[in-house]
This record gives sequence, structure tokens and C-alpha cells, in this order.
Amino acid sequence: MDISTALMILTAVVTYLIWWSFIARSMKGPRVWPIFGGLPDLILHSNSMHDWIADNLRKCGGTYQTCVLAIPFLARKQSLVTVTCDPKNLEHILKGRFDNYPKGPNWQSVFHDLLGDGIFNSDGETWLFQRKTAALEFTTRTLRQAMARWVSRAIKQRFCPILEAAQQQSKPVDLQDMLLRLTFDNICGLTFGKDPQTLSLEFPENGFAVSFDRATEATLQRFILPKILWKLKKFLRLGMEFSLRQSLEHIDAYLSDIINNRKLELVSQQSGGNGNPHDDLLSRFMKKKESYSDNFLQHVALNFILAGRDTSSTALSWFFWLVIQNPEVEEKILIEICTVLMETRGNDTRKWLEEPLVFEEVDRLTYLKAALSETLRLYPSVPQDSKHVVADDVLPSGAFVPGRIIHYLLHIRSWPDGIYLGG
Ligand code: HEM
Repeated sequence: MDISTALMILTAVVTYLIWWSFIARSMKGPRVWPIFGGLPDLILHSNSMHDWIADNLRKCGGTYQTCVLAIPFLARKQSLVTVTCDPKNLEHILKGRFDNYPKGPNWQSVFHDLLGDGIFNSDGETWLFQRKTAALEFTTRTLRQAMARWVSRAIKQRFCPILEAAQQQSKPVDLQDMLLRLTFDNICGLTFGKDPQTLSLEFPENGFAVSFDRATEATLQRFILPKILWKLKKFLRLGMEFSLRQSLEHIDAYLSDIINNRKLELVSQQSGGNGNPHDDLLSRFMKKKESYSDNFLQHVALNFILAGRDTSSTALSWFFWLVIQNPEVEEKILIEICTVLMETRGNDTRKWLEEPLVFEEVDRLTYLKAALSETLRLYPSVPQDSKHVVADDVLPSGAFVPGRIIHYLLHIRSWPDGIYLGG
């Protein structure tokens, strides 16, 4: 190697190290290594990611920045991540400057195969249109009625009988699994008017549910891998990408069948035929003047299933877990339920068990609602999320947002002392 080449390499290395030390010093968060940035720590804590981010936030006063890869040009465009849990910042991101923090192109390309341009995976006009349509179709009253019908039926005919059978046989039950099956059946009924009955005494495996889970898992794995790598795996049909493709084919066949049958039913009803009118989300979209493609209708359904299923079942699982830990809370909940039932159904306790509580009865359970809210505060179903940063910004806490990604935690474990007071 001649001396000029050696000098050039030395200059490049020194320039890089000056740039890196500037970047590393300006980041408040975990250590930033040369080239690999925050990636080593990220990989090291991949099994306890949530706790690790929460600890970092506590140490950094509620907001920090990190650089996933310390590579010039790439860092500024893709690798700088701002992480926050400060409630004032969250309000700013999700409400005040909502326009500056959309889901963004990375999120959309990761989810596109599963969710298309559905409400969960779109921004701007596409999102607004679906938001307005869903809000119009699902006014609170109609949503309540439809939800109450599906839930009551599943609780009376399947959930309670399974618990009774387990009690009689002195067998344990996997409550978390039961709640996931319950919410899956319920959200399928609400979304496309068909209860797959995954919650039943035999605990059957349901092809649609399995495919949906596999597709979600494979999609989430794309977040961990660089885009070029998962795109290559998709092209070569390797690993999880192969599983995603197969699952999507299954989901497509299942939903196409439902949509085709529904079309026939709607045509028959319009020409005066018999049959129960459907009030599910899919039918509501199909009855509109605009004609939507089957692909769009499938994505509407899948977005709702993703939105409503795990969120509700996770919240219920944590709720029962917390109630078991706190018998005094359980007692207060039971007393409240008995008091309301006494007023609405009288003293005959057999009548209390004939039917699940109707909405008006549930609405009067103030303490229960508070206990559920407390569960969501302590163990939020969506404890963290990311948004794309359109333009550089300054958060209410004073933190500058330079990069293209902002990540936020909703978990109180990440709050430093005094954050409530604006500290
Ligand atoms: C405990 C239960 C639930 C929790 C904790 C929860 C939580 C959330 C959160 C945090 C978001 C915002 C996501 C974001 O900003 O990107 C969201 C959005 C959404 N949720 Fe829920 N959810 C629950 C139940 C449901 C149910 C049962 C449904 C459907 C019937 C539903 C439908 C939706 C929809 C459609 C959106 C997208 C709204 C939009 O982007 O405009 N959720 N949910």
C-alpha cells in the first residue's frame, strides 16, 4: 500500500470517528458503538425488549435518542430513533401534530401483504375515508347491539358451559386461551357475521385462526430484519416468508368464500327472498352504493380482526390475573354485580344466571369499569408503538426529533419519577 492510500484511509477513519463521537455524545440513550450503533444492545435485549426500553426511559427522564446503525447518511435517514413515554409528548404525537407522525412507508410496506390499505395500514385520504365509513356504520349504539349479541351468545352457550364442565371434573382451564378464542369468535361475528366457534368444549384447531396467527407473526418478523433481507426472502419464498404466503392463501380462500356467499344472500334479499339480514361490518360495506373489490373487503375484515382480537383478550387475561391477586377487589366487583342484578332481576338468584348481563346492566357497573381501566393502565394491551416522522420537530418536553422514527411506550413502568408533574 502506498503512502497516499494509507493517508486517505487514515483520514477517512479519523473523519468517521469524529462523526461517530459527535453522534454518540449527542444520543442520550443506550451506548452507540462505531458502525453497529445501538444494534448490539438491541440484539442482547431482544428477549426482554420491553423492560429494557422501559429501564432506558426511566434513566433518561422519559425521552432519549438512539442510532440503530452508526453509518453516515443512513443514520440521519433511517437509523435515528427517538424514544419517549412522556404523556405530553404522546399527546403531541398522537393528537396535536398527528399530521407529522403517520404510520409511514416502512410500516406500510411491512404490513401490506396482510393488511393491504386497510385502516390500520394507511395514512392520509385512504385512512380518513375508512375511518369515516367505519365510524358512520358503527355508531356506538349499533356497535353495542351487535357486540352484545355475539358476546352474550358465546358466553351463555360455550364459555360458561366449559367452566361448569371443568368445575364438575375438577380440571384446570387455560383461561388465557379461552379468552383469546372468545374474542376471536366475537370479532369474527362482528366483522363478517360468522362465528368460527373456536371456543367450544373440544377446543378445536381452526384453520383460519392458525393462518391468521402465522401471518401476523411472519409479518412482525419483517420489522426485525432489514427491508432488503425480508424482500429477498419473500422473493425466494424462504422461512417465515414462505409461511406468510401459505397463510395468506388460506385466509384468502376462507374470506373469499364468505364474501361470495354474502353477495348471493344480499342479491337474494334484494329480490325479496328470505334470510336473516346481516348487520356485520362486511355486509355494511357491501350494501353501500360504491362497489368495493373483494380484495378491499377482505382487508377491511382483516384489519378489524387484528384490531379487536388480541387487544381485548390480553386486557381480559390481565384483568382476571389482577383480580386473582386482589381478593378484596374481587369481592367489591361481586357485590356490585349482585346489587345491580337484585335491582334489575329481583331476588330470585336463578334469574341472575338465566341470561348474561345486558348492556344497560353492564353500564351500571362503575367499580368494574374502573377495575378494567386500571388493568389497561397497568398492563396496556398495546404497550408500545412507532410512528414515522415527516419533518423534524421539537416535542413538548423540549426534545428535538431529528430522525425518521419515533417510538413510544405507554407503560407506566417506563415513567421516571415526577413525569406526571411535568418533570
Ligand atoms: C381492550 C381493547 C382494545 C384496546 C386496548 C385497543 C387499543 C387500540 C389502540 C392503542 C389503537 C391505536 C393504534 C394506532 O394508533 O396505531 C387502536 C386502534 C383501533 N382499534 Fe382498538 N383497541 C381495543 C379494542 C378494539 C376493538 C374491540 C375493535 C373493533 C371492534 C377495535 C378497533 C380498532 C380500529 C379499527 C383501530 C384503528 C383506528 C384508526 O386508525 O383510526 N379496537 N386500538
